[in-house]
Order: sequence, then structure tokens, then C-alpha cells
Amino acid sequence: MTHKIIIDTDPGIDDAMAIFFAFQSPEIEVLGLTTVYGNIPVSMSARNALTLCDIAGRQDVPVTKGVALPWVGPESEYAHFVHGDDGFGNIDYPPSTREVDPRSSAEFIVEMARKYPGEITLVAIGPLGNIALALRLEPELPKLVKGISIMGGAAFVPGNVTPVAEANIWNDAYAADIVFSADWEVKMFGLDVTLFAPTDPAFVDILAEKNPVMGGFMQKAAQFYIDFYSQNRDEKVCFFHDAFPIAHLVKPELFEFTRGNIRISTDELNRGQTVVAPVGTTASPLWTEAQFVQAATGVKHEELFQLFIDTYAR
Ligand code: BDR
Ligand code: CA
Repeated sequence: MTHKIIIDTDPGIDDAMAIFFAFQSPEIEVLGLTTVYGNIPVSMSARNALTLCDIAGRQDVPVTKGVALPWVGPESEYAHFVHGDDGFGNIDYPPSTREVDPRSSAEFIVEMARKYPGEITLVAIGPLGNIALALRLEPELPKLVKGISIMGGAAFVPGNVTPVAEANIWNDAYAADIVFSADWEVKMFGLDVTLFAPTDPAFVDILAEKNPVMGGFMQKAAQFYIDFYSQNRDEKVCFFHDAFPIAHLVKPELFEFTRGNIRISTDELNRGQTVVAPVGTTASPLWTEAQFVQAATGVKHEELFQLFIDTYAR
């Protein structure tokens, strides 16, 4: 079965890894890359997404520019210290000369959902402002799409920006609240799975060997990111968070989920916390009346990494 997807993204090293993985997967048809601020400002996200399409020879894939600011509050602090000044690990890669699509990211999502009702899976791997805006433009969006998978959150583990919050959700907590509360059951791939599946640096060397163009780009771009993740550790490690929801579409049997009701904190202290009450663990209507989520809580690491390698090798 082929999955039509739209990737909502802020590329970003692990976003790049995920996008190339999707392009290489015969089971996946990428309808567009909708960009959002997050790791970097939105204009850089859009430019980087165009560059990734160029590298992959996929200039047929539309790239749109989306929200530049959180739903509430000032401009975000970007994660240049994780992804480099250019979002690609400071490798000075020549920018694309292609133009972005004139539609906004939210408009594009709504237009595609109306064009292919019931067929599209939204895969959000950045902050959730574009999806929240698409829900405002088209309140029937949950009925129009097949599903939504998100890289974000931390259900039963600590956060990576604050003790309770993961970066994508922390970056736009009000938008996340709108998205998780909408009339769909989000599949959430949070730090519960992504931070418990480190790869060693040889992984990107293998990607480069298997696929000199896309893997070669990943090998160069990831060095800065690997250094960030390897601080205060004895061994070098790397985490490719954003590729998880796409891998799930290709091989769902690699993942385990916990179903529960979810609430997103928007107060300043706990901003971006994704609290999940597994089904049957509370009778409080504050929780039982909240929307359901499927939170990924287990993954077969070795098979997942092999899937990435085999797919890059195609
Ligand atoms: C998430 O935050 C970003 O830095 C990554 O691209 C990923 O989407 C991980 O917390
Ligand atoms: Ca991302």
C-alpha cells in the first residue's frame, strides 16, 4: 500500500534524514513539504526544504512556507546550537534556486486534504502551528485526512528542553493543544522512543556508503549534530527523532503504543508538557473527556536502523 503524506517540517538534520528516507521509500508518496519555524526561522526552513528536494532530484515536490511565530508569545529561540547556523550543521551547502510554492503551508494542507479525502497522513516533525492553522481554516480536516503522526512530546519520560517538555511541543504549546484536542487520534512518536534508540556515528558512514548523494549529505551535515548529542558522554551518539513516524508507516510492526487521554500544558512552568493518562488509570473527567492519543512507547531498534540503511541503499 502506498501512503500519501505531507511532511510538515523545520529542516534540521533529523528532518533531512526523515525527508530522504520518505523520498527513498516506495511505500511513501510525498505530496509536499510544508515548512514551519522551529529549529531555524521559517524562511530558512523553506530554503532548506528546497535544497533537500534538489539533492534528492525531487524538484517535483512542492515546498511551502508556513507560520513564523508561535500561536501565542514572542518569536521562538531557535536551535542553531543543535542544527548549526544554517540548519545543516554549518556545511555551507549551496542554496536552491527554486522558488517556494505561493500557497501557505496551512492552505496547502487543506487543499490537498480536500483533493484526496481520506487518503493523506499528515506527518508533523516540527512545531505544530501549521497544523493548528489548517484546523482553523478547515475544521473538518480530521475527517478529511487518513491520520496524523507527530514527532514530539514525552509521555512517560523527561523532556529535552525543560524537565517536562520536548522541543517541538514546547516551541508552540498552544498550537499543540489545538492539534492534540482535535477530533482525531494522534499517533505520537516522542522522546519515549526516539531518545532510547541512539545510533553510533558509523551509522551515517554506512548511509554515505550506501547512498553517496543523500547519505553523503547526511554524513557531512550530521557531524555538528553528533557533537551536540555526544557532549558529556563517553561515546558519540546520534538521534534521528524525525524519521520515526515515517518508519512507522513503512513498518508498523516495529512499534508498540500506549493508548490514553492526553493534555498539553500551556502554563509557563510546564509549557509543552504532554501528559498521557493510559486508558483505565483515572476516572477524572479532566482526563477521560480529553482526546485520545496513541503514544509510541516501544520500538525494535536494530530492525529500525536496518530499515533506514536498506531504504537509503535502494
Ligand atoms: C525535535 O526537535 C528538533 O530539534 C528535531 O528536529 C526534532 O523534530 C526533537 O525534540
Ligand atoms: Ca524537526
